[in-house]
Amino acid sequence: MQAMVYRGPYKVRVEEKHRPRIEHPNDAIVRVTIAAICGSDLHLYHGMMPDTRVGMTFGHEFIGVVEEIGSSVQNLKRGDRVMVPFNIYCGSCYFCSRGLYSNCHNVNPNATAVGGIYGYSHTSGGYDGGQSEYVRVPFADVGPTIIPAWMDQDDALMLTDALPTGYFGAQLGDIVEGDTVVVFGAGPVGLFAAKSSWLMGAGRVIVIDHLEYRLAKARSFAQAETFNFTEYADIVVEMKKTTGFLGADVVIDAVGAEADGNLLQHVTAAKLKLQGGSPIALNWAIDSVRKGGTVSVIGAYGPLFSAVKFGDAMNKGLTLRMNQCPVKRQWPRLFEHIQNGYLKPSDIVTHRIPLEHIAEGYHIFSAKLDDCIKPVIEVSAA
Ligand SMILES: NC(=O)c1ccc[n+]([C@@H]2O[C@H](COP(=O)([O-])OP(=O)(O)OC[C@H]3O[C@@H](n4cnc5c(N)ncnc54)[C@H](O)[C@@H]3O)[C@@H](O)[C@H]2O)c1
Ligand SMILES: [Zn+2]
Ligand SMILES: [Zn+2]
Repeated sequence: MQAMVYRGPYKVRVEEKHRPRIEHPNDAIVRVTIAAICGSDLHLYHGMMPDTRVGMTFGHEFIGVVEEIGSSVQNLKRGDRVMVPFNIYCGSCYFCSRGLYSNCHNVNPNATAVGGIYGYSHTSGGYDGGQSEYVRVPFADVGPTIIPAWMDQDDALMLTDALPTGYFGAQLGDIVEGDTVVVFGAGPVGLFAAKSSWLMGAGRVIVIDHLEYRLAKARSFAQAETFNFTEYADIVVEMKKTTGFLGADVVIDAVGAEADGNLLQHVTAAKLKLQGGSPIALNWAIDSVRKGGTVSVIGAYGPLFSAVKFGDAMNKGLTLRMNQCPVKRQWPRLFEHIQNGYLKPSDIVTHRIPLEHIAEGYHIFSAKLDDCIKPVIEVSAA
């Protein structure tokens, strides 16, 4: 089969690989129809994620058709069209039974922090991902769900990560009616976090980035006020000014470990690898939120330490909340919002790229060329 394969930082290509096989009675093999490239894949692509091995296939956002099932699978049958959450999880351990699907205890012997994620390095379990013609889906009775007949395929794809993660970011903010919410990052996750903040009662939503075309999308798609951080000497001071010098009630970090905006952070993180990523957006979040406010972190950080302003967070009495998104927990409410027309997640898709040209897709998305927001990879016919 054809699959995207990692060859080293900034190098990916399509290769012929063995088709995955059923390895456990509760596995399914899914023939992928469409997949997406996520901002998280860029951390792998840039060589920022520990233990990303040459030969690995990325892709944790995909939907497809069940090709084969293991002998114990009961909820799926061959031919079902399924959406697969990015988390791999058992559904029954201590953590899964508390809804912490992204922290499953049974799927990742390589790490105690994170659970399993498709195509996300051996730090996240070493599972091959779905930017590929076929993918092995473990715990097939737990994660995948049959795509409802009324649901658009691109909307289903956005539900495998980006939308639930943005929604989760707003949820972790514990937004109270009328709150001012600031979102750092106008990528897919930040756009969905901003949009979701309104659904949770925000009175004001502000999105910050340095890419004008993405800020334009934040205005049109998420009805947000926008600030380009390169236009101000200090974006934190600007946030103070615009909130009566109190700070925002809630700030969401939808940027993560590869934030721009501070040369020292960039050099110590991306170049010298002295820290697990540049936490400049997180530090701006800590500084922009009011005392007693909440910072929600959905931007991804690696397992290594980063130079985070923890003392300021402590002395301001902040609540810091964060996690990889437990995707399926968000689905019932998000299905309702999509069916009712409150959310149209596929509106953020900007590019459609055949699997054979995925290397170009990575380049365009990574370099933020051609006004790219969300690239969809066309893998096989539905
Ligand atoms: N927690 C989860 O479950 C989860 C799931 C999916 C993605 N993520 C993470 O969320 C983050 C965003 O994902 P995405 O797909 O939207 O990525 P993306 O790369 O498309 O978007 C990131 C945006 O942040 C902007 N940015 C960079 N530095 C900034 C700064 N200092 N302040 C404000 N904006 C800045 C970039 O210009 C870009 O528009 C990534 O770190 C990704 O790994 C987490
Ligand atoms: Zn993702
Ligand atoms: Zn579990």
